[in-house]
Amino acid sequence: MSVPLLDLRAQNDLVRQEVIEGLQDLLNRSSFILGSHVAEFEKEVSVYAHTNYAVGVSSGTDAQLLALMALGVGPGDEVIIPTFTFFSTAGVVARLGATPIFTDIDPLTFNMDSSSLESCISPKTKAIMPVHLFGQLANMPEIMKIANTLKIPVVEDACQSMGARGWGREAGEWGCMSSFSFYPTKNLGAFGDAGLTTILDDESLYKKVKRLRVHGMEPIYVHHEVGINGRLDEFQAMILRAKLKYLESWHEGRIKNASWYLARLSNLDSDRVALPSFSIPNGRHIYNQFTLRIKQGKRDAFRAYLNEHQIGNAVYYPISLHQQPCFEYLGNKKGQFIHSELAASEVVSIPVYPEMSLQQLEEVAVIIESFFQ
Ligand SMILES: Cc1ncc(COP(=O)(O)O)c(C=O)c1O
Repeated sequence: MSVPLLDLRAQNDLVRQEVIEGLQDLLNRSSFILGSHVAEFEKEVSVYAHTNYAVGVSSGTDAQLLALMALGVGPGDEVIIPTFTFFSTAGVVARLGATPIFTDIDPLTFNMDSSSLESCISPKTKAIMPVHLFGQLANMPEIMKIANTLKIPVVEDACQSMGARGWGREAGEWGCMSSFSFYPTKNLGAFGDAGLTTILDDESLYKKVKRLRVHGMEPIYVHHEVGINGRLDEFQAMILRAKLKYLESWHEGRIKNASWYLARLSNLDSDRVALPSFSIPNGRHIYNQFTLRIKQGKRDAFRAYLNEHQIGNAVYYPISLHQQPCFEYLGNKKGQFIHSELAASEVVSIPVYPEMSLQQLEEVAVIIESFFQ
């Protein structure tokens, strides 16, 4: 039996009728840019993420970019980010002419190592951008304590983690702003690119992000600053609103599958494979990815074995950002962030999507067990 890494068809079937009707309505109204679906979706997400404001934008990358632009990040500034994450977290910093300053990760959670944060701060630090990777929060109490003491703004990269929570708060409820992605593989995915910037409570930041989304324009054809065309399509907002109603049940399905794997695979030799670790008080990991570590240099062989048995898998991410060719100019060295480099050589994500059947879960577990026998 083949098991894909992700199968979106089942969840698309759930919203098929509503999307078709929504599209008919859009065609009838022919209103495609910043209409009622975008406005309503922004309200719905700000309720969901416990923030005062939300601005629908064209991708998670633009959600990050707009947040940093609203803070005035530019040449000469530094933004602190973890080195083990998706490229855009560093890309948006560099695109604004600022310098990404990397931290290593906590090897258990794959998230920013908050104990090294203080040593990265300098007079040039303009923002800290922790990432909630794979569906679990970074150590936000520690990060906020340091940031608040030094009055440095925090922008959460919650692109993979809408609905994750911990220490009594949601992803998006910590920093002054947060970015979310609705790339199709996210727990809430659009039919293309889409994203959203939330603003916790600062109305002036909200107005700024909203204006920057439309070329810094307000009112029409008066430009206060140079922004971007970063709008969320009305069509994508319509789909996201239809899907948002199911998001909690999809999270629960992923959590159930992850718990099943954690129990079923608990007897594997921990010297050879590590299962995901989650121990945040009052927390929720929403398992956008269920990520194993395959040790002793066996990751490639493990992946080849999964591929041979048609079990979907992927590596997020094979190269830490400080080792990317485009960041060579920063002068970071191999061996500088050992936990990130080791993670990049060991991680493999396996199927955890909510519609998986017990038979599919069992198939994945049996193949994994047989590799380690
Ligand atoms: C951690 C992280 N940050 C940022 C992004 C960027 O989002 P998008 O692909 O919607 O631009 C992603 C998306 O893959 C992500 O996983």
